[in-house]
Amino acid sequence: MNRLGRRRFLKGTVATAGVAAAGFPHIWIKDSSFAYAASGKVKVGVLFSLTGTTAIVEESLHKATIMAIEEINDAGGINGMQIEAVVEDPASDPATFAEKARKLVLGDKCVSVFGSYTSASRKAVLPVFEKRKNLYFYPTLYEGRECSKNVVYTGAVPNQQQDDFVPWLVEKFGKRWYLIGSNYIYPKEENNYCKKLLASLGAEVVNEEYVPLGHSEFSSVINKFRSEKPDVIFSTVVGDSVVALHRQYRAAGLDPDTMPMASLTTSENEVAAMGPDAAAGHFTSAPYFMVWDSPENQNFVEAYRKRWGGDKVTHFVSEPSYFQMYLFKQAVEKLAPGDINPANIREAIKGEEMVAPQGRVRIEPENLHTYLWPKIGQCQSDGQFQILKQTSEWLEPLPYKAYPNQVCKESGLKET
Ligand code: ACM
Repeated sequence: MNRLGRRRFLKGTVATAGVAAAGFPHIWIKDSSFAYAASGKVKVGVLFSLTGTTAIVEESLHKATIMAIEEINDAGGINGMQIEAVVEDPASDPATFAEKARKLVLGDKCVSVFGSYTSASRKAVLPVFEKRKNLYFYPTLYEGRECSKNVVYTGAVPNQQQDDFVPWLVEKFGKRWYLIGSNYIYPKEENNYCKKLLASLGAEVVNEEYVPLGHSEFSSVINKFRSEKPDVIFSTVVGDSVVALHRQYRAAGLDPDTMPMASLTTSENEVAAMGPDAAAGHFTSAPYFMVWDSPENQNFVEAYRKRWGGDKVTHFVSEPSYFQMYLFKQAVEKLAPGDINPANIREAIKGEEMVAPQGRVRIEPENLHTYLWPKIGQCQSDGQFQILKQTSEWLEPLPYKAYPNQVCKESGLKET
């Protein structure tokens, strides 16, 4: 056999190794793309906290993800292959996120994993996905300043939540801002972006304060709201603390008409948990609100309520949790079964588009972030948001906008 003939023969052996492996489990198959397709199913990890301080939001991300998988499977799967979900509960703890991510990637051999609310948990799993060249689908708004080949980001970055919101608030309410956030990377970076915008508008930060994750006692913070009398309270508090902050603000008799909270993290989900009275009058910037009027959103809301309960709400993190599974499907659909692996899915998802409940979204090929439709909403007494402003075009994701000498390209982070 000449060399070319031998190479062809070896290639053929790998391609048919699946049959042999079933009968000869001692054969170690090195080719990972074979392993991912071997079961005739597309196995994915689902890694959202069902317990702990961010379960308040992550449970709904889990539900939206599972619903999308069920819909896709009921409609025939991906090229006839069913999606098999391996579900883990990382309990709102970054170290547990990393441990469960390793299990899903190495033990269960999932071809991609869908998970995380907090940036702390995303940062904790990142080394697992980068070292093993796997793919993590992250649906949450976050601070940007990340350029990984192993994450698909479908939530908003700061330019998509703040560029319209901050000037609008300054004009409407004034220039003295109080920044309150949970104490970790997301609020600090998000506030860094906010401070640059405020400086460009001639506005000032009267206080910048961080409380521990899970914090529930806001009386001293509220005393400072009273004494500082800011025009706007800009909140990047997350999880259970959102409920505590709003309830205690209301109990203190403060007035959203004169000292509104403007949040990047308070959705219909947190509002349902705190009770609408505590949220009415406050503002949120997000690419999606449950009241958004589109046929795709009507279907999404109806399906979600049918599946999980008529009183349930959808929101700006559950919506990307849902649509990103469809983008994953579109990418995998382009691949032959033997080519299904994380690297090929990553290539296939670049530039993918679909009409999501919020409108048409697109994965930017350079940085794997998503074009989205920013909106400004004010919470009403029924727990829903009234949309006061929306962009006329989808907005490009610029994860390094606060760092103008850096840009995330297909080839990696570039200094300019
Ligand atoms: C967040 O931590 N990205 C909300």
